[in-house]
Amino acid sequence: MNYYQTSIKKLNSLRKQDDYLILSIESSCDETAVAITRGRTVLVDVIESQIDIHKKYGGVVPEIASRNHSIKIDSALTKALKSANLKLSDISVIAATCGPGLLGALLVGLCHAKALAYALKLPFVGINHIKGHIAANYIANPSLQPPFLCLLVSGGHTEILKVTSFSDIICLGATRDDAAGEAFDKVARLLNLSYPGGPAIEKLASSYDNKSPIYMLPHPFKNEKHLDFSFSGIKTAVFNLLTIAKNRGETVNYSSLANSFENTICEILTKNAIAASQLTGIKKIALAGGVCANSKLRLYMSKSCINSNIELFLPPKSLCTDNASMIGVAAFEEIKSGTKPSDLELDADPSLEI
Ligand code: KG4
Ligand code: ZN
Repeated sequence: MNYYQTSIKKLNSLRKQDDYLILSIESSCDETAVAITRGRTVLVDVIESQIDIHKKYGGVVPEIASRNHSIKIDSALTKALKSANLKLSDISVIAATCGPGLLGALLVGLCHAKALAYALKLPFVGINHIKGHIAANYIANPSLQPPFLCLLVSGGHTEILKVTSFSDIICLGATRDDAAGEAFDKVARLLNLSYPGGPAIEKLASSYDNKSPIYMLPHPFKNEKHLDFSFSGIKTAVFNLLTIAKNRGETVNYSSLANSFENTICEILTKNAIAASQLTGIKKIALAGGVCANSKLRLYMSKSCINSNIELFLPPKSLCTDNASMIGVAAFEEIKSGTKPSDLELDADPSLEI
């Protein structure tokens, strides 16, 4: 039996079990992450963040990200095994993110995972990063089952997804230009804040004194029926406001502007998520992605869901941003729902669709 035939056999024998261990790797952007999970339970979650390295460039530099993944991946793996007091021989499945993300960054984690799987003769499962973000909710709420809606808001995506089953996911609305996280990062640069912009804007906005003038920013598609988003106009409005004030010699209250920007983004995201529930009749909404670590968004969603009698699933902030546990749990769900092991020729796909 060749490697792939052995993998099929091994994976088939695991499908009905939930007590085997998955070792997962996530390297789609600037976090080198390794986790070991059992079912929907996380045994260990190691994240080697590159934020400090990319900070001085104001954003993630893809080539630097790949090089640092190569440097960190092995020690992250060793650290994960050591802190869980496990050996590679205890692992049953290897999983890794295969897209979407930065090509070079994805390749480091993916090739490492495939090499491990081949050497250990274990089944390998390539995971879509977006499905990983959704699966973060299964860790926080082990009893959560589809159907539910997912508001996925990250640095590269802003989508409202209808999760009918683990493999049947459709997009009800998406951004037509920038992702919300991208808008946070770009506006943070305009406000001289460091990368990543989301937490920096959140911190500045929290210092708003509730007295200074509120800046009115555009609310694209406010009265339209569809569930799409647009954030680039809001970013341009912030740029224009700052440029006009500078030309006129006027001062801008940065904490008030950060607060107005954050409010606008949260209002738009919340409005569309609630509208999606009304449209589909689905009364469960799960949040996913880095921007869902934002406290104001969590508050807006909590209040609106209570008012509309919707059950809200909020993963802890650490599970909203990139991590490998979500990839391991996504792999577990894929295996349970009958997926075949991935071929070792599986390539990284920077624009992999759900
Ligand atoms: O999901 P994630 O870690 O990586 C991607 O898959 O993109 O999301 C990163 C994004 C960045 O744009 C970052 O600025 C944003 O999430 N973010 C936040 C917060 N924490 C991270 N945005 C708003 N408020 C936050 N607290
Ligand atoms: Zn992500």
